[in-house]
Amino acid sequence: MNVIYQFTFILVIFCLTSFTTKDEETKLVAKKIVTHSKYQEVTIKKSTFGITPEGEKIDSYKLKNQNGMEVDIITYGGIITDLKVPNKKGISENVVIGFKTLEEYLQPNPYVGAIIGRYANRIANGKFSLDGKEYQLTLNRPPHSLHGGEKGFNRVVWKAVEVKSGKKASLRLSYLSKDLEEGYPGNLQVCVTYTLTNENQLEVLYEATTDKETIVNLTQHSYFNLSGDFSNTILEHEVVLQSDKIVSINENGIPTGEFEWVANTPFDFRTAKKIGKEIGVKNEQLERGNGYDHCWVLNNSERGKTIVAKAYDKVSGRLLEVTTDEPGIQLYTGNFLKGNLPMRTSGFYEHRTGFCFETQHFPDSPNQSNFPTTVLIPGKKYKTKTTFTFSVN
Ligand code: BGC
Repeated sequence: MNVIYQFTFILVIFCLTSFTTKDEETKLVAKKIVTHSKYQEVTIKKSTFGITPEGEKIDSYKLKNQNGMEVDIITYGGIITDLKVPNKKGISENVVIGFKTLEEYLQPNPYVGAIIGRYANRIANGKFSLDGKEYQLTLNRPPHSLHGGEKGFNRVVWKAVEVKSGKKASLRLSYLSKDLEEGYPGNLQVCVTYTLTNENQLEVLYEATTDKETIVNLTQHSYFNLSGDFSNTILEHEVVLQSDKIVSINENGIPTGEFEWVANTPFDFRTAKKIGKEIGVKNEQLERGNGYDHCWVLNNSERGKTIVAKAYDKVSGRLLEVTTDEPGIQLYTGNFLKGNLPMRTSGFYEHRTGFCFETQHFPDSPNQSNFPTTVLIPGKKYKTKTTFTFSVN
């Protein structure tokens, strides 16, 4: 009897210890996987995209993370050609308007996917004064100047450097804009860094320095369509803009100098609303923009942290959230897309098949003394960051 007791006791102890060991082992393995995936790399791959008519080689860089997100950026215009993001079923699809070849990007197009500078948005009559001197910019939207002029930052070739740090990967693009390029004073050294994280965030960091007093206002001009199907318009997307007022514009899209409260107007996006819900109603500001093409004054209580804008596509479940330290955001609803730009496979991008969230200072600030300043002086650094975060809901 005693022997049987002793045997059972030993057996029980053996089983208990072996279970514990197994359990510990499982925990360790699980821990290992978690630890491993946490540090899985965001990669960058370089390839040749094309050659310009002037013989310059244009490279493409693919940043790819471990959560189904991929961003392709070319050195021409710092353009995001492709941005793949998973939908609620985990299927990654392109969510930005883009073309297949460099030749198509070289054709006139409405700033598709590009970096915009030196001055995003409009400057009335392309004129401004600094330090008692008047400057005249190229009037590429006569009689005004738009998005940096005839050959803005969207049409120059940027130098690229890859920066890898494991959990993130960045592409650092730099460009020296010479004194009086497109009429802007000062040699401006510009650097735009795109960073992709494993948390499905695309950060855009803009930096610049000058050797002469000048003005700077940079942004990114990707046209999003979160459905991933560009035969759909963006009118069903639900948008939120944390803003109580817009910069009012005249019939040429130039600020009147006044702000307009959004309450009880089609510009109220303080709670989620479909872009298409009121885009067609009779409203003077909407008529002037041919739809939404306005700068919203952001409440942005905690600059860089507050989510200032959201867009959501119910069918795919994709959600885009924006943080920025800029005072404004231009929501442009692709009002001038008119079915003449080729899609990647077949067909053409039709009216309102993409929208832009252009974080920026207000349009025409150099001529509006009540707007936040866009002046950059030698010795100071222009530095601003916008983050686009993608998830599903
Ligand atoms: C402007 C629009 C313009 C579009 C393409 C937007 O940022 O606000 O008015 O048509 O860019 O050029």
